This record gives sequence, structure tokens and C-alpha cells, in this order.
Amino acid sequence: VTRIASGAVVESERIGEDVSIGEFAIVRDGAELADGVVLHPHVVVGSGVSLGERVEVHTGAVLGKEPALTAGIARRPKSASRVVTIGERCSIGVHAVIYYDASVGPDTLIGDGASIREGSRIGAACVIGRYTLLHYDVTVGDGSRIMALSDIVGHTVIGKDVFISGLVSSANDNALGREGYSDDVMRGPMIEDEAMVGAGAILLPGVVIGRAALVAAGALVTRDVEPETRVMGVPARPA
Ligand SMILES: CC(C)(COP(=O)(O)OP(=O)(O)OC[C@H]1O[C@@H](n2cnc3c(N)ncnc32)[C@H](O)[C@@H]1OP(=O)(O)O)[C@@H](O)C(=O)NCCC(=O)NCCS
Repeated sequence: VTRIASGAVVESERIGEDVSIGEFAIVRDGAELADGVVLHPHVVVGSGVSLGERVEVHTGAVLGKEPALTAGIARRPKSASRVVTIGERCSIGVHAVIYYDASVGPDTLIGDGASIREGSRIGAACVIGRYTLLHYDVTVGDGSRIMALSDIVGHTVIGKDVFISGLVSSANDNALGREGYSDDVMRGPMIEDEAMVGAGAILLPGVVIGRAALVAAGALVTRDVEPETRVMGVPARPA
């Protein structure tokens, strides 16, 4: 039995069975909700957004946002496809925002207030912590976890079973915006499978954190880190 609370706006006809849609939620024409989806109040699901079976979306989350374009923005957002795919059994937190042209694998948790930009591809059974930001074109492999309030810059590549602690930040532009934006120049960090990054570490443009390496809390990573190596300090060195 599908329940649609009063005040909800449901334009789509692609609604499965046992779906629950809370007060003032909006489901645009062309969105797809598989069986057992739960939308809490005030959720907005845009056209072209597809939610797998038993996905739960908490209050006020927005799925399917266009990147804004104003004069001060150096990077012109690519013409993203107007598609978002959320795998089965995912949980999307309160006020999370997922832009168009993003996908999330099954069994992944997107925390409250997280923001996932266009071009991002998140695998299965991942955790994207509360208020963590994934900028454009970020890849996160299966089983990887990023804790709260981390800032993952555009073009970052994260392997499988990676652990990134809270308040980790990253950079992709050593010109700090002086030279405008070019996709050819921006290089995000690459974090290989099973690597661990401690709380508050900073990863500079293009660094490679090798497989199962450990970046200590507070480290400033300026160079590549060899696999299975521990680095710490400012600048980070093997220790
Ligand atoms: C890498 C880490 C595990 C090292 O811990 P440890 O092996 O117990 O290190 P110790 O406390 O024995 O310290 C050894 C030396 O390294 C120094 N040190 C330890 N951690 C350091 C760090 N993060 N940065 C710089 N120096 C560090 C210590 O001051 C000490 O130096 P000293 O002998 O001159 O006093 C720890 O620093 C770390 O980063 N933990 C990650 C915590 C985290 O972010 N968890 C995830 C979220 S909860």
C-alpha cells in the first residue's frame, strides 16, 4: 500500500508498491521510486532521479539539483545529464543535496547535510559523513568511508575500503584560482585501496596515497605516499 501524505506533490506515475511519501514532499514527473521507498517530509525528488528499493530519504533532502552558474564562478559546470541513480537500501540524510549526474551504489549512507556534486560516482556500502562535501567528478570505491565535515575536492579518486577521518581537506589547484579554471590542470588527490587518512589531514593537489598507507592526524601531504607507509607531520614524512 502506497501512502501519500497530505500536502505532498506527486507528479510521477513511476511509483512502486509500499512507498511512503511524507507531508510536503515533491516528486517531479519522470522520477522513479522503487518498492518500499520512504520519503520523509519536505524531500524534493527531481525529474530523472531514480531511487532503488527501500531507499529512505530524510527530511528536506534534495535529489537532483542543477549546479548554479553565476558570473564569479571560474569553472563552467559541464552540461550534466539530468540523471541521479540511488541504489537499493541507501539512506540519505536530513538536508543532504545530490546534484544531477551523480550516482550512489546500494547500501550506502549519505549523512545529514552532505553535498554530492555532479559527476560523482559513489560505490556500494560506503559512508559519506555528515556535512561532508564531495565536489564535482569525485569517485569513491565500494566500502569506503569518509567521516564528518571532510572536504573532498573535484577530481579526487578514492579506491575501495578507504577510511578518511573527519575534517580532512584537499586541494586541486596550486594556483589558488589565479589562472582561472581548466580541467587539464586541476588534479585531485588519488587515495588507493585500504589507505587511511587521519583527522584533519590536508592533501595537496595530485598526491597519491598508496595502497594501505596511513596518513597521520594533522599531516600536510605534499608528496606521494608509498603503499603501506605511515607518514606524519607538516610537511608529512615517513615516520
Ligand atoms: C599515526 C598515529 C596512529 C600515531 O600514533 P602512535 O603510534 O600512538 O604515536 P605516539 O603517540 O606513540 O607518538 C610517537 C611520536 O610521534 C609523534 N606523533 C604522534 N602522532 C603524530 C601526528 N599525528 N603528527 C605528528 N607527530 C605525531 C609523537 O609526538 C611522538 O613523538 P615524540 O616521541 O617526540 O614525543 C596517530 O598520530 C594518528 O594519526 N592517529 C589517527 C587518529 C584518527 O584520526 N582517527 C580517526 C578518527 S577517530
